[in-house]
Amino acid sequence: MKIKTHPLNSFWYVKGILTTATLVFVFGTTATKTVAQQRAPWVAPKTAQEVKNPLAGDKSVLADGKVLYTANCAPCHGNKGRGDGPAAAALNPKPADHSSVMVQNESDGALFWKLSEGRNPMPSYKKMLTDKQRWELVNYIRTLSRSVAK
Ligand code: HEC
Repeated sequence: MKIKTHPLNSFWYVKGILTTATLVFVFGTTATKTVAQQRAPWVAPKTAQEVKNPLAGDKSVLADGKVLYTANCAPCHGNKGRGDGPAAAALNPKPADHSSVMVQNESDGALFWKLSEGRNPMPSYKKMLTDKQRWELVNYIRTLSRSVAK
């Protein structure tokens, strides 16, 4: 024997689903906003911080690094790495200031890990750039330090 659902029952059933979906959406959105506003500081894992830069001190890669930086990073971080690229105004959180003491105090391994992984709104460059290109960028970021004589 077939049990027929009363049309009214399915109406309440559907309404229940819609209400749940709305609640999940509303709470979900609020939770995401809260996370965006109070983000934990971005810290690279200890093992990543300790990874040695295979191109450490190699100035011959700086020209390549600059080209990569200008094309990929400057739109957000600015040509001088001050975090003031044309896209920066619309971003939250703001792009890091690569010339700052905070960034310059990070190890090469930590910078490499961060630019490889990315963190919203910054994309991950692990698949977009080779390991060598990413280390070249680390070397280039070192030249952006405010304390480096130009
Ligand atoms: C869409 C904008 C955007 C682009 C493009 C971008 N970044 Fe970022 N970057 C950010 C933002 C925003 C942060 C801060 C993220 C945070 O603190 O959570 C950041 C942070 C960083 C940091 C971490 C600094 C620190 O010490 O905490 C590094 C390193 C970095 N970016 C390097 C790069 C490099 C290299 C490129 C280009 C290959 C690049 N970024 C491209 C937006 C961007």
